[in-house]
Order: sequence, then C-alpha cells, then structure tokens
Amino acid sequence: MSQGNIDGIICKISGPAVIAKKMTGSRMYDIVRVGKQKLIGEIIRLDGDTAFLQVYEDTSGLKLGESVVCTGNPLVVELGPGLLASVFDGIQRPLDKIEDVSGSFIARGIDVPALSKDKKWKFVATQKVNQELEQGDVIGWVQETETIKHYIMAPPNCSGKLKSIKSGEYTVEETVAVLDNGYEIKLMQKWPVRISRPYTKKLDPDEPFITGQRIFDTLFPIALGGTAAVPGGFGTGKTVVEQTLAKYSNANVIVYIGCGERGNEMTEVLSEFPELDDPTTGGRLMDRTVLVVNTSNMPVAAREASVYTGMTIAEYFRDMGYSVALMADSTSRWAEALREISSRLEEMPGEEGYPTYLSTRLASFYERSGRVICLGAEQAIGSVTVVGAVSPPGGDFSEPVTQSSMRVTGALWALDANLAHRRHFPSVNWNRSYSLYCDQMEEWFVERVADDWIELRTRIMQLLQKDAELQEVVQLVGPDALQDNERLILETSKMIREDFLQQNAFSDVDAYCTLKKQHGMMKGLLTFYDKSKAALDRGISIENILNLPIREDLSRLKEVPNDLFGEQLNGYLSKLSLALEEE
Ligand SMILES: Nc1ncnc2c1ncn2[C@@H]1O[C@H](COP(=O)(O)OP(=O)(O)O)[C@@H](O)[C@H]1O
Ligand SMILES: [Mg+2]
Repeated sequence: MSQGNIDGIICKISGPAVIAKKMTGSRMYDIVRVGKQKLIGEIIRLDGDTAFLQVYEDTSGLKLGESVVCTGNPLVVELGPGLLASVFDGIQRPLDKIEDVSGSFIARGIDVPALSKDKKWKFVATQKVNQELEQGDVIGWVQETETIKHYIMAPPNCSGKLKSIKSGEYTVEETVAVLDNGYEIKLMQKWPVRISRPYTKKLDPDEPFITGQRIFDTLFPIALGGTAAVPGGFGTGKTVVEQTLAKYSNANVIVYIGCGERGNEMTEVLSEFPELDDPTTGGRLMDRTVLVVNTSNMPVAAREASVYTGMTIAEYFRDMGYSVALMADSTSRWAEALREISSRLEEMPGEEGYPTYLSTRLASFYERSGRVICLGAEQAIGSVTVVGAVSPPGGDFSEPVTQSSMRVTGALWALDANLAHRRHFPSVNWNRSYSLYCDQMEEWFVERVADDWIELRTRIMQLLQKDAELQEVVQLVGPDALQDNERLILETSKMIREDFLQQNAFSDVDAYCTLKKQHGMMKGLLTFYDKSKAALDRGISIENILNLPIREDLSRLKEVPNDLFGEQLNGYLSKLSLALEEE
C-alpha cells in the first residue's frame, strides 16, 4: 500500500460521520484527512471500498465529492516529557488557552503538536555504552515536574546494544541514544491509542488502591490495577468522588478524563484543577496530573477517542513503574458519543439506541487496567486503576451503560439520590454496592493494618444488614415492636452511618482518613456495641445507655486528626468501659 496516496470521494455527510468511496487499500482505524480543509478523521468501518469515517472536527461546510486522503497511520499519541500538567482534547491537542475553552479555540484542519517541540529538557542518562537493552528498559530520566521523574524507556519492540548515549539538554524529538542496529531513542515515543501497550505479566489484584475514604477502603475496596463503576444521578457526588480520589488516593500519577455533563462543568474543572493543592506532595496536584477534557461544544468523535487517549497516557506512566489512577467522568457521555456516531452511520441499534458493541467496547477499555510487571529487565511494577463514573438518565441503573459497566468492573460504588438529598456524603448506598476484590486483599489488610481488620469489617457489614431488615419491620409495625437489643442495633447502625460512613470531602481533618484510623473508628463503634449489649444483658435499660455522654465522644472521633487518633482512641475506650461498666 502506498502511504498517503489513497484518495477517496465523499459520498455522504451526517454531522461527524462521513462516508467515502474508492478507499481501497485503507485499513481500519487509519487516520484520514477529509475534504479541502483537511479535517482530521478516522476510519471506523470498512465495507469493500467504502470507508465509514468519524471526523474529529466540525464538518460544517464540507461538501459531497470532496476528497479524502488516507494517511496510512493510526491515531497515535505523543508520549514524553511535557505530558504532566497539560490539558488536552480527545485527540491530544493541547488546550493552552484554558479560559478560551468555550470559544472555537482550535482552527480546523491544523496539526497542533501535542508536546512542545521547542522546549529543552535536561536528560540524565543512567545507562552506559555497550549495555544490552531490552524493550522497556529505562535509559535515563527527566525531572518533568517538581514531583515526578519521567523515565525515558526503550520503546516496545526496540532492543539492542547501546552504541551511544549522552546526558544533556534535548527537545523531545532529538536523539538521546543510538542502538547498534541504528535505532534512535528520543525523549518522545508514539503509540496508537486503540492498542494497549505491552507489559511482561499481569499480577493478581491483591494490593489495595487506598483512597482514604472509609466507605471505599473499609467496605468496598478496590485493588491497585482494579476497576470501579460509580453510577449516580445528577448531583449525587460522582465528580466529588473522582476529584477526591485524584487528590488523596495512593496513585503517583492521575489521568483525568472529563466529559462534561453540564455546559460549564468542564470550564469549572479547567479553572479549579490547576489550583488544587496536592496533599501527598505538598505541591500542585497538576504536577502529577494529565487532563483530557471534552467540552460540550467539541465534536463528539473527539469525545469517543478521548478515553483511549487517556488510557494510553496512563499505560505509558504505568510502564515507568508508577501507580496511575485513571478517572473518567462520565463514561455515559462517551457512550452517547458512540451512540450518536453509530446512528449517523445507520448501524443497527441495540438497547436504547446504543450500538450493539457498547458492552464489548466498555469491556476492552476496562481490560486495559491492571497491576503489571512492566517490560524491561528491571521488572518494575506499575498499575492503572480505573474509576469510571456513569450518569444514568433519571438515576435508573437498569439502563445499558450502567449495566454493561457493572459487568466488566470489579466494584460497584452505587450513588444514591436519597442519601445525597439527605446530605449523607459520599452518597454510596451500602446495600447496593459491592467489591469483588475483598477476598484477594484480605491478607494485605491483615498483615499491613490489623489482625482483626476483616473481622471488624464483617461485623460492621452485618450490623448494616441487620439494620436494613429492622428498618423494614419498623416500617410495617412501628418502633414499639422492637426489643431493646434490636433498638441497640438500630442506634449503633445509625452511628455507623453518620459517624463512620459519612465523610466530608471538604473538611481539612476528615477528607482523608488513614487505614489505621479507619480501623480504630470501627473498633470504637463495635466496642460501644459490645459493652452496651453486655450492659443490656445485665438489666440496664436502653435509655440509660443511649443517654450516656460518651456517645458524643464517639461521634467526634472522625474530627480527630490522623496523627493524634491512636492516643485519643485509647482514652475513649477506657472512658467507655468505665461508663458502661459502672451503670
Ligand atoms: N463527599 C462529599 N462531601 C461533602 N459534600 C459532597 C460530597 N460529595 C458530594 N457533595 C456535594 O454534592 C454536590 C454535587 O456533587 P457532584 O460531584 O457535582 O455531583 P455529580 O457529579 O454526581 O452531578 C457537591 O457540590 C457537594 O456539595
Ligand atoms: Mg459531575
């Protein structure tokens, strides 16, 4: 096939979808330049010599009969220093002028380089001449931002003996090392977005992605390299969840894919994100973040591509041995883009008009997550953890995007409009949510946090479960039908809900809760329950127990800073024994 020489003819235009004839020789996912303005597009279906294209730019003014040129190359992203702290659109064009985001900020048909080609980076070589290199081997690094070292690697499928390598100042396109076979390694490599980057081996999900959020870490934890779907109606807290995890989780690098719901939502992300402090490093959160944003005025095809662009960038940092968190808010907007293009191409619609391949697309996206042994002799371990928000219309979880996401993710964090309405945040419904990672991570929690972690967690879950059953009884026959020990369960679960599960993302002290503190809080609550139950058994009245002032101390435990917590807990536990044993 002669590259760049296939000239097709436009025979149909429908918004972002274009059909072209005489495209013999072109391949699936080849990038094309469409019409006189050379709009960027991609082949998403081939049928004989007819190519179905999605165009990443506004197609108004495009005419039938104009030509389509196939570049012979797939959609690639540029991977190298300059990614961090950047804001890109769905096909990695940099949105430099953040405040202009609502205007038409990128002229059509123009190639905008993703990474600056002028900026010089200080490269520090860590390998020497004559060293045998495997694909993925680190040959040196660039201090990309204050907090992140950007490791320069031999790209996949590249190996050989180092003929030359030199520290110094380079642009991303200059050669920093040469192999004996003539291959030139630069600070930048490219990778096709729709193909996952290779690794040596996928590891079991047996270490947690620590969020500092009690409802997640304690009740529904996900693994490093795991996946969670976060469905929730409008205003239930999806964006707050995504941003809280971006700030506090134990990931080194964040890739945040924003598909705005409301008109101004992305503008908010764009103005707020760069201002966020990084509680982990003390610097700016942007210094370890890559933002990929789609505003409502950007063409839908770019939104379709954005999740792959984001994922490829995430995999690239994983390959350096980093833990990467990929946040997608919201995947429903991505699915809607898929639906729109599919319907414009008059494909057979599936459920609710989504294409029949919605599930397989979602599955192959989430499958790119994982904790892996990276390529390269060092066998570094890196991970991509994915948290995908879903916005079901009307909060109805039976719709296709929620259902398909649930089938392919390892945890469900179901947000609940009733809880959000009562300002119970995070509004995660504990009866509906689940995590499939718990068993595999048991050992980690027992060894790293506390022997009785699993036991306490199980008891908390049981109390909440029992609470749900008792609530039904109360609904039917009223509270008077309950016995004292049942009332104690109701009261304790109320404390679990209000003093443990609720967590204010905007409180300085409570926004992040260490695992030790989570354990201590569970212990405090369960000790209260056990001692109260023993007191009941000794004939003490439930009213007396519930009126004890010690209960208030318990509700204030979450306001105790992480570092002072252990001490305060011990004080609390002795006070509790005293109060309940004296009764
Ligand atoms: N963990 C939380 N702590 C305190 N307030 C929260 C929390 N989560 C959500 N909220 C409140 O709910 C509002 C809506 O949340 P948002 O994430 O924008 O919803 P969504 O993205 O689901 O539409 C927030 O502006 C905030 O006031
Ligand atoms: Mg939102």
